[in-house]
Amino acid sequence: MSLLYSKSADYDEKRFEDYEKYRAKRPDKTPEEIVAHVEHAKDYANEKYFIDEYFERYEAYRAKNPDKTLAQVVQAVNTNIDRPYYTGVVTTDMSKGYQIMVNKYYKLPDDYSTKLESLSGYGNGYLEPTAAAAFKKMVEAGREAGVNLRSLSPYRSHSLQVWQYQVWVDAHGQEMADRESARPGHSEHETGYTLDINTAVEEAHFERTAEYKWLMENCWKYGFILRYPENMEYITGYVFEPWHYRYVGPEHAEKIMKSGLTFEEYYAYYINNPDYPETGGPVE
Ligand code: DAL
Ligand code: ZN
Repeated sequence: MSLLYSKSADYDEKRFEDYEKYRAKRPDKTPEEIVAHVEHAKDYANEKYFIDEYFERYEAYRAKNPDKTLAQVVQAVNTNIDRPYYTGVVTTDMSKGYQIMVNKYYKLPDDYSTKLESLSGYGNGYLEPTAAAAFKKMVEAGREAGVNLRSLSPYRSHSLQVWQYQVWVDAHGQEMADRESARPGHSEHETGYTLDINTAVEEAHFERTAEYKWLMENCWKYGFILRYPENMEYITGYVFEPWHYRYVGPEHAEKIMKSGLTFEEYYAYYINNPDYPETGGPVE
């Protein structure tokens, strides 16, 4: 019997290895806390995307939302939607490179700037050079397949996003604006890694075009993902935007597009998992 844990009422010798694993990860916890944590975390054993570090938040969200499944609880907390939008905002971790998260909980650093490359011949504006080169390759591959892709709205400066968001607020009020347009500092368009392709209005139904179908099958090969998929507003915070693509690099884009995970979920688990600080999530 381990003396370390034996004072705890829930102590179970069979779980000794689990206790030790958690103790190694959280040396700040008392033996009693370690035992309690492992006992309760057992409920989540089948949840692939469970992150130890968020355990208390899972339990708090679960208590408030007794109808949700454990998978839904894990999904919600991993993507921060247990918190109201634009609360607990942090400056995004720029060391994540092309996988940085920019959304309603992560903003760009105030002094963010990027090199830009013109998309002349491929539509409007500019993208960060690697994203620009990838977009041009994608357009050329599309042309060969008979689809016509063009940049409509790529990089936006911070001041342009200030203006853009205000246009939405003035026209539709803040609540509606927040479902369609990012507040300044929180738009992926400010990164230089993102663009709207061909259109940016729902009425155009880009999702019914051959271009959209081709993008769904091929965009990941060039490092792009569909960033705001249909029916995922409750996670991404935005209505379906079939035209909005984000460069994350081909390796991650393939995994995201093939898994059907939102970037929010993928980022939480594979890029920024606090249980695996060096590598993100475990190697699959
Ligand atoms: N329409 C997207 C969410 C943006 O404003 O960045
Ligand atoms: Zn967009």
